[in-house]
Amino acid sequence: MTYLNKPDMPCLVVVGGFFGDEGKGKIIAYLAKKDDLSIAVRGGVGPNAGHTFFFKGIKYKVRMLPSAALNPSTRLLIGAGVLINPEILLNEIAVFNAADRTFVDSQCGIIERVHIEEDKADHHLKIDIGTTGTGTGPANADRALRTLKLATDFPELLSYIDNVSNSVNYGLDNNNNVIIEGTQGTFLSLYHGGYPYVTSKDVTASGICSDIGIGPKKVDEVLVVFKAYVTRVGGGPLQNEISSEEANRRGWEEFGSVTGRQRRASPFNMDLAKKAITLNSATQLAITKLDVVFPESAGIRDFGKLQEQPRMFIENIEAETGLRVTLIGTGIDLNDVIDRRGK
Ligand code: IMP
Ligand code: MG
Repeated sequence: MTYLNKPDMPCLVVVGGFFGDEGKGKIIAYLAKKDDLSIAVRGGVGPNAGHTFFFKGIKYKVRMLPSAALNPSTRLLIGAGVLINPEILLNEIAVFNAADRTFVDSQCGIIERVHIEEDKADHHLKIDIGTTGTGTGPANADRALRTLKLATDFPELLSYIDNVSNSVNYGLDNNNNVIIEGTQGTFLSLYHGGYPYVTSKDVTASGICSDIGIGPKKVDEVLVVFKAYVTRVGGGPLQNEISSEEANRRGWEEFGSVTGRQRRASPFNMDLAKKAITLNSATQLAITKLDVVFPESAGIRDFGKLQEQPRMFIENIEAETGLRVTLIGTGIDLNDVIDRRGK
């Protein structure tokens, strides 16, 4: 068993194991405070992701900054592979009072109005795929065509520009604890998900590291986050999908944090979980929203206090996957976590 916060184990990659919305934001927000992270760096697609966390009754959402934004001593970086919507980024920098600790890579691509308009008007994207309409797909298409503008083309971003790959590699070489935040989820990967019902990039752990510019040997731990049930927004198959009435009855109804669309839901899928573990070379797991499936577990922060049903649910996942569930979400506050690292 390794300790995430052990100084010689400094680099943790966090990715989603299903279709996004697994609760990565909450887990990262918790770790940022608990481990007093030095550096949090965001990979993934861009502002099509909304990572949400609650602290002391206040709801926070980030679509551009890493979810570690609440810790004033964590440096917040955005990797070169991530698309930036400048308006959204600048607003979040203001909300989190993060102007002096936010850095974006000079090679980040920029989403412009035309990309958003195309994402919302194109029948294939809007209707068939059901994208978030945030312009990320068209912007990545322009990047592949090598016509997309970069962060350095935008004066309002100049004070934030950095070489993020250098900063992260330097930080790791100097034993800083670094968290690398993925977005979306494994089965929305352009390559490994259920094409064409996917996002516009690879979002597995390797893809996220590539977004940032760190090589595979720099990674110490890969934490794959699963929710205690599965949700999916937009098109594409969802095995064992339950009706929206049934989701409401179970208390599993969720609405997208970027688009407001109701998420489709199904029970926890062990086959998908195992495949995600392989695709990401997971070393440990997090399970979020245990309290939504097992209301009796709400607010519990000690594994020994978990009732039999939720404890068996976790132990079954461990037995099936051979990995330890180190972090368990039991409520909306970022401190509603059972932290089993090192225990
Ligand atoms: P796009 O990433 O906006 O192009 O959307 C492609 C597909 O990925 C659609 O089904 C979206 O609903 C889904 N998607 C993209 N980002 C997220 C996310 O952060 N959470 C959940 N689904 C997402
Ligand atoms: Mg989300």
